[in-house]
Amino acid sequence: FLLSRPTLIHLDNQTEINQTLTYLSKQPLKATLGIRLNVPAYHSHFGFNLENGQAKSAIALLLDKNIPVSSIHLHLGTNLYDPTLYAKSISLTVNFIKEIYTDYGIILKYLDLGGGFPSHGLLPHHLHTQSHPIESYLKLIFSELQKLPYTPTLTLEPGRYLVDDAAIFVSKVIHSNIKDHRQQIIIDSTINQLPLTWTRPNIVAAFSPNLIQLKQTITPTTIYGASCQEIDILYQGNFPKVSPNDLIIFYCCGAYNQNMTPDFIFKRPKTYFL
Ligand SMILES: Cc1ncc(COP(=O)(O)O)c(C=O)c1O
Repeated sequence: FLLSRPTLIHLDNQTEINQTLTYLSKQPLKATLGIRLNVPAYHSHFGFNLENGQAKSAIALLLDKNIPVSSIHLHLGTNLYDPTLYAKSISLTVNFIKEIYTDYGIILKYLDLGGGFPSHGLLPHHLHTQSHPIESYLKLIFSELQKLPYTPTLTLEPGRYLVDDAAIFVSKVIHSNIKDHRQQIIIDSTINQLPLTWTRPNIVAAFSPNLIQLKQTITPTTIYGASCQEIDILYQGNFPKVSPNDLIIFYCCGAYNQNMTPDFIFKRPKTYFL
């Protein structure tokens, strides 16, 4: 379908090339085509491998069939806290672009470097590193791109980085008590509505029902969701004392939460656009 539209398609593997060739044996190509690269700097199962010659063979095959190659795409993964991964991968990509320029005279229209930039949320549980500002990614990316022999249109596809901060998750306290010197709070929501909690701690604050932030009587606390699971824990740490009907607000929830929410006991949270 997309091959018959004026759109940009990055072919990911040999099967997609074969499908394209079958399509072109019957109809003309309207789309602009490129390939997705698989670079050794980061493990991924997507794209044509750069190291073992797969990517170059894919391009040779397309050219042999008179199909112009107009774009190269990379998407290294998601939540990449190490900006040097971009530098290493783009350096290899730039060398590849130079090679296909020299060998086949290819001048790309587009270079699409994908997404993967971390958001401003807290670091995932398993990482003991520090996050870097987006500028340090861009600096490294642009210093590699300066080595290109010409200037294709650059596309970036940041998902998480752009949308995570845009959404907050608002829940209400339905019960709180103190057990063994620890405040236990139950909210009217569940970890399944914020599935990213499994991989990273949440940024959480408490408010009165009329939205005054609560900051008093900081106490070791566990915030539980209201599903039947004992592991339905959304936060552990110091927290102000709260009472039923107070609000608990989770920040930086806009990426990969709502769309990964299972339909288990709770429905997907309603979303309001402001
Ligand atoms: C090809 C591609 N580009 C961009 C993205 C967005 O990634 P992120 O949200 O990590 O920036 C994805 C996400 O899987 C993707 O597959």
